[in-house]
Order: sequence, then C-alpha cells, then structure tokens
Amino acid sequence: MGNHYRIAVLPGDGIGKEVMPEGLRTLRMGEKKTASFHMTFDFYPWGSDTFLDTGRMMPEDALKILKEYDSIYFGAVGLPEKIPDHITLWKFILPIRQGFDQYINLRPIRLLPGLRGSLRDKGPADIDFVVIRENTEGEYSGAGGRVHIHSDQEVAVQTNIFTRTGTERVLRYGFELARKRRKKLISATKSNACQFSMVFWDEVYDQIKSVYPEILAEKCHIDALAARFVTHPETLDVVVASNLFGDILSDLGGALQGSLGLAPSANLNPEKKFPSLFEPVHGSAPDIAGKMIANPIAMIWAGSLMLDFLGESEAATLVMRGIDTTVLQGKVLTPDLGGKASTTQVGQVISEQIEQF
Ligand code: NAI
Ligand code: MG
Repeated sequence: MGNHYRIAVLPGDGIGKEVMPEGLRTLRMGEKKTASFHMTFDFYPWGSDTFLDTGRMMPEDALKILKEYDSIYFGAVGLPEKIPDHITLWKFILPIRQGFDQYINLRPIRLLPGLRGSLRDKGPADIDFVVIRENTEGEYSGAGGRVHIHSDQEVAVQTNIFTRTGTERVLRYGFELARKRRKKLISATKSNACQFSMVFWDEVYDQIKSVYPEILAEKCHIDALAARFVTHPETLDVVVASNLFGDILSDLGGALQGSLGLAPSANLNPEKKFPSLFEPVHGSAPDIAGKMIANPIAMIWAGSLMLDFLGESEAATLVMRGIDTTVLQGKVLTPDLGGKASTTQVGQVISEQIEQF
C-alpha cells in the first residue's frame, strides 16, 4: 500500500495538546480516502510539563530520536506563567529548527472564502500568496555580545550573518516555488540603508533571477513592501525575505487572514537530509487553554503542508478542501471566527467533509 511515513508527534503545551488530535484525525482521513500511503504516529509528550518535572523540555538525545522520522508534527510550546518564554523556545523548538537545518520557513497566506479578513476592501481573490523566510542566519544568527555590562560604557553588538550559501538557497527555493505558482516573486531588501548585507542579498538575487527568465521578479524595500501588503496584497505571489524581515512580514500576512487560529507554517529542510517540521503559527494560548475552543484549522492546514511535502499531494489537497468547505459553509466554527463550536466539532466536520469528497 504505497509509501510508509513515520511521523513524530509533539503536541507540546496548552492548546497544542487540544488541536493536535484534530490534525491527526484529518491526516488519517486523508490517508483513508486516498489509500495510497500509510502513516505511523509516535507520540512524544515533551514540553513545559516535562520541564517542571525534569528540568528539560526534551531529553538530551531528542534530536537523535527525531532524526529517524520522515517528518515532525508540532503543536505549540509555552507556559509563560511558570517558565520564561526564552527557555521554552530555545530549549525545544529552536534547537530542532537549527539542528535539522530547516532553512526555509514557509507561510502560506490565503484569505479563505467565507471569511472577512482585516482589510475592508480585499477579498479571497486578493489575498493568496506565500512568504518564504530564511530560517537559519541573517539577523537572527545569534552572533554578538555585550561588554561593560550595566555600566555607562555598555556596548551591545548583534551581528547579521549573510552567507552566499544561505542566501542563494533561500532565493532559489523562492524562484522554484514561483514557477509552480503565478510566476511572480518579490525579494524583500533594504539595500539603500544596509550597504553590505542587503547589497550582497540583491547581488545574489540578480544572479538567481537571471536563471529564471520566466519569473516576473522584482525587489522591494522592506518598508514599502510592508505598506504594499496592506494596500495591494493582490500583487503578491511569492515573497522571499531574510530572517528578520520574513518574521515581520509573515505575521503581517497572517493578520490579513482573519485569525491567528488559521495560519500554518512549515520549517523545511528541502533536501530531506533531516526531517522537516510542520506547525501552526500560534503559540500555546494560555488565555483559552483548557476550554476546548481553540481553532484547529492552523494545525490541520499544517498537516496538509506536511502531506504535500511528503509527496502526497492528493491527500494534501483533500485536507485543504475539507478546511475550505467547512469555512465556506460557516456553520461549525470556533469563537475566534464568530462561531460557537468546539475544537473537536470543527475537526470532526472537516474530517467528515474529506470523507464525502
Ligand atoms: P498565542 O499565539 O499563544 O496567542 C495569541 C492570541 O491568539 C491569544 O489571545 C490566543 O487566545 C489567540 N489564539 C492563538 N491560537 C488560537 C487558536 N488556535 N484559536 C483561537 N485563538 C487562538 O501567543 P502568545 O499569547 O503571545 O503566547 C503564548 C505562549 O505561546 C508563550 O509562551 C509564547 O512564547 C508561546 N509561543 C509559542 C509559539 C510556538 O510554539 N511556535 C509561537 C508563538 C508563541
Ligand atoms: Mg514571528
């Protein structure tokens, strides 16, 4: 029965644990409907509870364990009342992203038909693009230091690292993706002010661009591009950006979608040397955790991205259609989208939709 995939399931904290079962339910339905592949799910209950018990978010050999999997399906992390966020993040999700060289952070931004986004005059036809964020270096490479700490002479240095390898591979990924989409690409830059890093970024962009004459490509300064997200989102197809720029742009894009409970993200190692990680963009949402009203759609959508990356595009499309149909019908939605349904009810309805296709 076709390919077999081993998936490491990390529900994590808070609503991560609540939305994960719905992600798995819909993945299983995609598997059942296509009957062309099989998945094994192995659960790892790592996260803040483990930290409170053992002092570790995950075991010392976690990466060794995870490396054996085809893919990682991740819920959310964070218990801000008891553990500082930089600990939960830096001891759990970030070591996975870095250790597995997941250099592409892919965030599809699409306003689902039936929903109102945050822009008054823009509908689903106007908001359908992808932000590709460089995920391993640039402004977040962690190079720097502080001297004369807490004195009047104190100095803080945070250095941007842009390597040719790192810049080339993210831009090339963007062009390849644009080829499969509407063949438009925007490279986010700031070469007027950052005369070293971003002039270099632009040079690499020009080189890669020359290999893809069929792509309508342009570069745009990050400030103007941020404004364009709001004023002309219909002109966007694939947006490629450095770590910091991409971080900001992808949240701005996410805001256009209407609810944080919808936005998925993929952390990819495209060469498949290491497993990739698929997760909702949102965190553990302590304000609603335990109430079973979290929207499971971001988790389910992340599952669709995972199926697509594994090569199961038929199942990926079925799961996505299940989301689209459920949202368009608008009968069973969680409170963040104006409905009254529970997390489980939304997952069940999406799963039933998939079964009926
Ligand atoms: P958050 O994303 O957890 O929540 C922000 C707001 O959006 C809250 O009002 C929440 O109720 C709402 N929300 C989020 N997901 C939702 C969903 N599926 N359905 C309905 N409403 C939803 O961000 P916040 O509150 O800033 O952080 C909480 C914790 O999560 C912190 O510890 C933070 O470090 C962590 N975090 C973890 C991330 C991850 O696991 N990748 C990403 C972002 C934050
Ligand atoms: Mg962010």
